[in-house]
Amino acid sequence: MAEKFYLTTPLYYVNDIPHIGHAYTTIAADVLARYKRAKGFDVRFLTGTDEHGQKVWQAAEGQNKPAQQFVDEIVGRFTAAWDKLNISYDDFIRTTEKRHEITVQKIFSQLLKQGDIYKGEYEGWYCVHCETYWAAGETNEDMEGRKLCPTCGRPTDLLKEETYFFKQSKFHDRLLKHIEANPDFIKPDSRRNEIVQFIKKGLKDLSITRTAFPWGIIVPEDPRHVIYVWFDALINYISALGYLSADDDMFKKYWPADVHLMGKEIVRFHAVTWPCLLMALGLPLPKKIFGHGWWTVEGKKMSKSKGNVVDPLALSSEYGVDAVRYFILREVPFGVDGDFSINSFINRYNADLANDLGNLLSRTLTMVEKYFQGQAPRVKGQAEDGLSKELVSLLAETPKVFDRAMDELAFSEALSAVWHLISQANIYIEKQAPWSLAKKGEMERLAIVMNTLYNVLKLTADLIAPFMPETSLRLLAQLNTGGDKVAKGEALFPRLAKTA
Ligand code: MSP
Repeated sequence: MAEKFYLTTPLYYVNDIPHIGHAYTTIAADVLARYKRAKGFDVRFLTGTDEHGQKVWQAAEGQNKPAQQFVDEIVGRFTAAWDKLNISYDDFIRTTEKRHEITVQKIFSQLLKQGDIYKGEYEGWYCVHCETYWAAGETNEDMEGRKLCPTCGRPTDLLKEETYFFKQSKFHDRLLKHIEANPDFIKPDSRRNEIVQFIKKGLKDLSITRTAFPWGIIVPEDPRHVIYVWFDALINYISALGYLSADDDMFKKYWPADVHLMGKEIVRFHAVTWPCLLMALGLPLPKKIFGHGWWTVEGKKMSKSKGNVVDPLALSSEYGVDAVRYFILREVPFGVDGDFSINSFINRYNADLANDLGNLLSRTLTMVEKYFQGQAPRVKGQAEDGLSKELVSLLAETPKVFDRAMDELAFSEALSAVWHLISQANIYIEKQAPWSLAKKGEMERLAIVMNTLYNVLKLTADLIAPFMPETSLRLLAQLNTGGDKVAKGEALFPRLAKTA
């Protein structure tokens, strides 16, 4: 039976429409899902939307719409965006769905019964934007004495309300031990160190219900309370698999998750609250939590008020979906912060896609047509000349480097290995000078050269498939691997005129 691989993205808040930051996590997850499927894994890829909480409630109020109607309208923007970006998710969960609400309520009731949830009073500061509680000592203070959220810098609200707490503190030692015993649990290491520092300061119990507004899953035992949006949302990773429902086959098959992907600012919820909750339920912990970096735009933080939010759909309409997918995973190592600028996008498009890959394909096919009437030469035996030997050994080495990088979610490195092969193949053309081989009538050597180039392109089509599924198919169609003759077509990536 195929080995299973379960991966997830965060659930996106529906107070806003999808932007390049959401697309980043989702495209990375899609690439991994496609890669694992091609390796024969039985993949389950989950994404969805986070529809409760004060932030979404306020956004709905702001538009004078009932919250349910508001979220129903926005969720379509997400599914449409993921369709356009070729996201091959297997399931899309909305936290307002019954299947989710029922599981969340069952979990709440169970933990209440077993004493891991208890009633008390919360007093502290709350950031609506981040949906996060802060103790006074954790906030920053501005000149007017306002307590600011340490994550986003916005002013927080003072809360004093009756609440139910989750006994997170109880799991302090077990969680630390787990993190220490499993170096791959939180990645990259910088994130892991931050979490360890945080836990070592002591774990406090977490307020997990609110009474100040009505938009959330109702506490069955005390309907004045709605469940805190993070406590609700994290559970999606198991509610989507049917945990505690009549049909929990998927849960049995796919849990624990092989990787939860997310941005760095929400690692704490996933690496602290989520494992504690799972421990309270007696469930195994996810194998990996990966926190990627943040994109700025032309050096600035992306925000609606600055008007610099990058729309992945507009970008895809203009330059093609695959160019966008390629750029965001190639430009910055996964795990560190990066900057988006239209100049760097165009530079990379022209250099890597139009020049390196596009030229290799069109030169190779032109020569196969010219020297071999379009028939890609099949060569028996080994290449004898040094240049060919070198490229053939790089051809054998590249998939290994690629796989090692993919195993570490080093997407940029994996792509860079493919582009190293491509650029070596372009250099190989210059050095072999097939045109003079043809002139001298060295047809055997010419056949070896064309065959080697053809194999480079075939391998390239294979390796880039998870990143650029459409381009991979177009490449294979031109190589016509199943057919008799190559079918040179349009340029894969027409050169862009430089703006700016
Ligand atoms: N709803 C929560 C997650 C709940 S998961 C159980 C949430 N949603 S979010 O819509 O605010 O953000 C989700 C993802 O988008 C995060 O992974 C976040 O890092 C990513 N990004 C949002 N803006 C981003 C950038 N500017 N750059 C990179 N990713 C960023 O948090």
